[in-house]
Amino acid sequence: MTVRHPGHPDPFSEGDKVLLLDRKQRRYLLTLRDGGEFHSHYGVLAHAALLGQPEGSSVTTTKGSTLLAVRPTSADWTVKAPRGAQVVYPKDQAMIVALADICPGATVVEAGAGSGALTSALLRAVGPSGQVISFELRDEFADVAERNVADRFGASPDNWQLRRGDVVAGLSGVACDRVVLDLSEPWTVLGAAVEALHPGGILCAYTPSVPQVMRLHEALAGDARWGMSQTTETLVRGWHVDGLAVRPDHRMVAHTAFLTTARRLAG
Ligand SMILES: C[S@@+](CC[C@H](N)C(=O)[O-])C[C@H]1O[C@@H](n2cnc3c(N)ncnc32)[C@H](O)[C@@H]1O
Repeated sequence: MTVRHPGHPDPFSEGDKVLLLDRKQRRYLLTLRDGGEFHSHYGVLAHAALLGQPEGSSVTTTKGSTLLAVRPTSADWTVKAPRGAQVVYPKDQAMIVALADICPGATVVEAGAGSGALTSALLRAVGPSGQVISFELRDEFADVAERNVADRFGASPDNWQLRRGDVVAGLSGVACDRVVLDLSEPWTVLGAAVEALHPGGILCAYTPSVPQVMRLHEALAGDARWGMSQTTETLVRGWHVDGLAVRPDHRMVAHTAFLTTARRLAG
C-alpha cells in the first residue's frame, strides 16, 4: 500500500495515516478504517467523517470538540509510532543525516535497529538507489523495527535488509559508505566498522553519556585508520508565540545524546 505524504493532493481514504490535533495541540495518530472509530475524552469520531475529506479539514466529535486532521510528517511518526527501544528523536535524526552526509545512493550500515525510527530516516535519505542494512541483536526489538518500518513505508522497502544478530560478527564481508551506531558500547564495533567502510567513509555514533564519548574518542585515536573525529550535541528550543507573549517555551527536550563522527582514512 502506498503511503501518501503530507500535502498529497488525494483526499483521505481507507488505510491512510491521520494525525489529529486538539485545541491544545495534543496529537493522536490513527489509521483510517471503514467502520473505524477514534475514542478519546473528546467523545467518538467516526473515521467515516474523515474519508473523502481533504487534508487540513476540521472534524467534530460526538461531544462537540473540534479536531484538525492532517497527514503525519516523519517527525510525527517518530514520536507517535509504537516503540520497543528508546528512539532517536527527529532533531538527532536530522543531524545524523547531515553530519554523516547520508546521501542518495549510499550504502549505510546501522546498529541497533531498535524501534526502527532512525532506520526510517536513513532509508528516506539514501533513496531508492541506496540501501540500508540494519543489525539488531534482540528479536523482540527486531520485530518492532520490522513492523514500524513496514508501516511507515506501506511495505518493507526493497532496499532495506534487517539482519538479526550482532553487528560486529555481521559486518564481516560487508562493504559500505556509512556506519551509524546507536548502541551502548560503540567502541566495540570500531574494528569491524573500519574494515567495512570504504576510505573516506563516515562513522557516526549516538551516545547519551560523557564517559561513552570519552571511551569512543580514545578508541578512535588508537587506530590511525580513523581521523577527523568530532562530537556535537543538538539543542532545539521551541518558542511560545502568542501576540505580545513571545518567549522560549518553558519545557524542552534538552539532552538526548552526543553525536560523534569520524572519517575512515586510507591505509
Ligand atoms: C537505543 S536502541 C536503538 C534505537 C533506534 N536507533 C531507533 O531510533 O529506533 C539500541 C539497540 O541496539 C541493539 N544492540 C545493542 N548491541 C548490539 C549489537 N552488538 N549488534 C546489534 N544490535 C545491538 C539493542 O538490542 C537495542 O535494540
